[in-house]
Amino acid sequence: MDFAGKTVWIIGASDGIGAALARALAQEGARLILSARNQAALEALAASCGDARVLPLDLADTGSLDAAVASIAPGTLDAVICTAALYNPGRVQDMSREATAKLVAVNLLGSFEVARLTPPLLRDGGQLVLFGSVAGYFGLPGGQPYSATKAAVNNLAETLRAELSPRVDVRLVCPGFVSTRLTDKNDFSMPALITPDQAAAAVVKGLKGSSFELHFPKRFTCAVKLLRALPYALSLRLTARLSVKPADR
Ligand SMILES: NC(=O)c1ccc[n+]([C@@H]2O[C@H](COP(=O)([O-])OP(=O)(O)OC[C@H]3O[C@@H](n4cnc5c(N)ncnc54)[C@H](OP(=O)(O)O)[C@@H]3O)[C@@H](O)[C@H]2O)c1
Repeated sequence: MDFAGKTVWIIGASDGIGAALARALAQEGARLILSARNQAALEALAASCGDARVLPLDLADTGSLDAAVASIAPGTLDAVICTAALYNPGRVQDMSREATAKLVAVNLLGSFEVARLTPPLLRDGGQLVLFGSVAGYFGLPGGQPYSATKAAVNNLAETLRAELSPRVDVRLVCPGFVSTRLTDKNDFSMPALITPDQAAAAVVKGLKGSSFELHFPKRFTCAVKLLRALPYALSLRLTARLSVKPADR
């Protein structure tokens, strides 16, 4: 899609990849609707993105997305891009039910609600873009519950592609490591780390093309795809070596 003059709603625009994407799409001449919880951050971003509209919402609050959707006329958007997610990774045995429920509510239920409510807002052929992750390709130690929600989003996007095509052009974005406040929580050295601007450039390029899945940087994402393709007898032996034991932390 050529984004000049197109209307794009970014949910998760206040920070990280979503904010970089907003700046990149504004450069391309898109008109933007910017959503997330932090209204002040959205307004500051909007000021540098032409005539962007700020539409705050909280994906964890069931009525919040409904109200935002009701404020947009059906058939008027060219793309909806949902980057919103929480990240609080750890070992399954250390997790609290409350923290897990909140993360699932935003990352998984939020994606389902975006998928359920936003297609009527799109023009014919408009794009619905969900952010999964390479973390969803294979269950690595220390990455739950985030990676399970991202595996589910990857799977949801596959289903949507079959159910909504050709009226809606469903795309799945699976980044490797991108340097944002999200990955600032990682206490290990991240291979093939890229900047949010590099990630945004890869997404814009991918959305102009026709591939269903946009994954980058390929030197990292292809290695994890290879891990997924191995028999469990081999792949699980490899991931067990990465395992973080409580005593190591
Ligand atoms: N960074 C990486 O290495 C990486 C790798 C693979 C996949 N991803 C995926 O890429 C996407 C963007 O990640 P990022 O690194 O840019 O994260 P980020 O910097 O933490 O940004 C996340 C965005 O989501 C919004 N958000 C969080 N909770 C929300 C809620 N309840 N309702 C509405 N908006 C909410 C945040 O804004 P507010 O706090 O203002 O609400 C923020 O704008 C995520 O889906 C992530 O899973 C990231």
